[in-house]
Amino acid sequence: MGVPHLMTLADLSTAQIRTILRHAHNLKQKTLPALQPSSQFILPASDSLRFKNIALLFSKRSTRTRVASETAAMLLGGRALFLGSEDIQLGVNESVRDSARVIGGMCEGIFARVGAHEQIEELAKYSPVPVMNALSSLWHPTQVLADMLTLHEHDYFADFSKEPLSRPSFHASNRQYTNREHRWLLPELRPLTIAYVGDSANVLHDMLVSYPRMGHQLRVASPDNLRYRAPQAVWDRVVKLNCDKNILWTKDPLEAVHGADLVVTDTWISMGQEAEKEQRIKDFQGYQVTEQMCRDGGAKADWRFMHCLPRKSQEVDDEVFYGPRSLVFEEADNRKWTTMAVFDMLFGHWDLDKIHVSK
Ligand code: CP
Ligand code: NVA
Repeated sequence: MGVPHLMTLADLSTAQIRTILRHAHNLKQKTLPALQPSSQFILPASDSLRFKNIALLFSKRSTRTRVASETAAMLLGGRALFLGSEDIQLGVNESVRDSARVIGGMCEGIFARVGAHEQIEELAKYSPVPVMNALSSLWHPTQVLADMLTLHEHDYFADFSKEPLSRPSFHASNRQYTNREHRWLLPELRPLTIAYVGDSANVLHDMLVSYPRMGHQLRVASPDNLRYRAPQAVWDRVVKLNCDKNILWTKDPLEAVHGADLVVTDTWISMGQEAEKEQRIKDFQGYQVTEQMCRDGGAKADWRFMHCLPRKSQEVDDEVFYGPRSLVFEEADNRKWTTMAVFDMLFGHWDLDKIHVSK
């Protein structure tokens, strides 16, 4: 059997994406009660990483992805080794090929955050163990999985009449579910109109190859300049998956947010683009997500807001970011459970299809 890798959600079928989300939801509901201060029991939901080591190769900074992966590996009974760019020889004194073979000889999985996407493709090519993308210049698959889980947990159910009473609602402030009647099955989403206002970067790219296939409409606004549009390598995947039919791309943020259930943005200056800061800030004037932008553009009255974080106030103001529409911290919390699900399936079982998701 070949070694499975995960570079982007474009590599997965919609059935596989749904299985990951169900598994993440399940792990979250089983694990959280055991982590409460008063809990008398610690029952691992899965120990597929027992005695296993996962290498975290991070050549860029990270808060969420790093904390999610270290805590997820521990909850699966394994250990994560954080290997920053200052710590190891990768790409400096040693080729990516040799590092992949050496690290893969001692660890059971590699979760890598790289600059150029080609670097993680090279790691995957030569690694004897699964490699998973923790962010590259082109893609950020684990972020969009967490976003999807957050949407499924929120009030976007396919059938409102059946769902609200049994929906568990998790309150991050006290880290507990508030209603006792947990819902073990992940509710299905109704089709959403999702607007993205900002730069065409890694997070958007994974949205482009997944949301349209899951039945949602994407409306994207970015400045009228090819550097702020999806690169050809990304667009080829979008077209191959037939996702382009459900994507509108405009330079007008007001047009993008029209009819939106959800508005999403990301930094205008991704890691590695610091030298372009001044130009980018100029080019993105008018793209800050605000209440007024969404009112003027005709977003739905109850539109919600998402951002992968870290956030600067230039791309979204405080009123939206810290306001009641914002799902940003639930999204951040869900990085842990979706990462745990994929670690379990990919590193623990080497299989993204046949995972057992208990009901
Ligand atoms: N959203 C996200 O990936 O955050 P970090 O860069 O802090 O990991
Ligand atoms: N587009 C951003 C995402 C950070 C999580 C970046 O690459 O820096």
